[in-house]
Amino acid sequence: MTVGMLASIIVALLLLQLAIVAFVGFYRRKRQYREIDARGNDSPVMPAPQRPVPSSTDGRLAQSATWEGFREFRVQRRLIEDVNGFICSFYLVPVDGLPLPAFRPGQFLTFRLTTDDPVTGQRKTLVRCYSLSDSPQSDYYRVSIKRVPSPADQPGVPPGLSSSHFHDHVQEGSILEIKAPSGHFHLIDDEPLPIVLIGGGIGITPMLSILNTLLERGSQQQIWLYYGVRNDSEVIMKEHLWALDRAHENFHLHLCYSNPGEGDKPAIDYQHNGRVDIPLLRNTLKLMRYQFYICGPRPMMESLVPGLEAWGVDSGDIYYESFGPATLIRQEKPNSGTAAQSISVTFGQSGNSITWTPNVGSLLELAEENGIAVESGCRAGSCGCCQTILESGEVEYLQQPDAEIAPGHCLLCISTPKGDITLAA
Ligand SMILES: Cc1cc2nc3c(=O)[nH]c(=O)nc-3n(C[C@H](O)[C@H](O)[C@H](O)COP(=O)(O)OP(=O)(O)OC[C@H]3O[C@@H](n4cnc5c(N)ncnc54)[C@H](O)[C@@H]3O)c2cc1C
Ligand code: FES
Repeated sequence: MTVGMLASIIVALLLLQLAIVAFVGFYRRKRQYREIDARGNDSPVMPAPQRPVPSSTDGRLAQSATWEGFREFRVQRRLIEDVNGFICSFYLVPVDGLPLPAFRPGQFLTFRLTTDDPVTGQRKTLVRCYSLSDSPQSDYYRVSIKRVPSPADQPGVPPGLSSSHFHDHVQEGSILEIKAPSGHFHLIDDEPLPIVLIGGGIGITPMLSILNTLLERGSQQQIWLYYGVRNDSEVIMKEHLWALDRAHENFHLHLCYSNPGEGDKPAIDYQHNGRVDIPLLRNTLKLMRYQFYICGPRPMMESLVPGLEAWGVDSGDIYYESFGPATLIRQEKPNSGTAAQSISVTFGQSGNSITWTPNVGSLLELAEENGIAVESGCRAGSCGCCQTILESGEVEYLQQPDAEIAPGHCLLCISTPKGDITLAA
């Protein structure tokens, strides 16, 4: 064998080896992409692995037990958050001085208040829910409450009872009765997908909690916040949000003003002139898989949730919460099998049997329309106020209840009858 032949064989062997290495590499990469695709068309630009984080159960947060019923809290600080003085934050510390249990960002507190009813002049007990608006801390909770005025077309009706009570009567040092944090709307901790937070008006509160938590943890997940308000006079914690935007490369702030004021400067005060809508999301988000968290006024939710689904977002990747009465954001019809039927609902105390049809809405609405006195608070399945004994029959829920339901009971505000039922109310 000549030297030339030997050299050719060596080169050929080297090339063969290179080809094998390249083929194995290519095959592995292809398998990875197939796996990503199977999980839902993730972007190849997946978030970097997260640093170990102080989550709700470690780090600076004490492992403290939650509590049953109502616990007393003192208002340590109150802070007006907007130019018009319509939104006020309350910093709450436990009177017993014990550490606070952590919560999942996105959850809410339930308050019990006693205030004067402006119509009857009598003392009235109210139960209302308010989202936690900061990350979990060991020594305080924060809520941010918007004053709710009378409806524009009914100026004679008294303004919101609870929100007015907070703004007008709850001062630093006031004592409040509060149930432990709860709620099914919260950050899903073990999901590494990029996150899109959408807050409309006061619906920003749970988003602030999620955002602050993620960034304080040093999360490397990509996070977008779309915050929709009319103009600069309505926005809260703007400096804080811009500071986070400057400090964190993985956080992208989008302030959307639907009706900017004369002094509101584009690109300085806000990025988008208009509402948070599907065209804006399509123009500003790359095509890949995200987790969407949404909380805002009813029209915003009714357009965004079905709009995202129509855009191709898996409904399992959309988490939303409504502060108002339970509404069917997705426009699904419950009782599809019985939609055409009339169902008889008997209210045990009065012995009244009333016909329910799907257009009536929830059992709470049925009772109220027919003058049957039932307790209610949040009207959203959160506070447990409307819990009533279900003596016979079955109900179905328009949304997942947040309040715990005792055996044999049901929540009137978010349920409809499956067939003829009898309630103890
Ligand atoms: C899970 C959850 C989280 C929430 N988080 C927050 C939060 O972070 N921040 C926040 O500000 N809010 C939040 N809310 C909303 C909050 O719980 C209250 O619903 C809100 O403060 C209004 O309560 P209110 O007692 O002030 O108003 P209400 O007294 O319940 O009145 C509501 C409206 O009805 C009008 N009204 C009263 N009587 C009549 C009548 N006879 N006819 C017609 N209209 C009438 C009032 O004028 C007012 O406009 C949340 C709600 C839920 C369910
Ligand atoms: S009114 Fe709050 S759970 Fe029904």
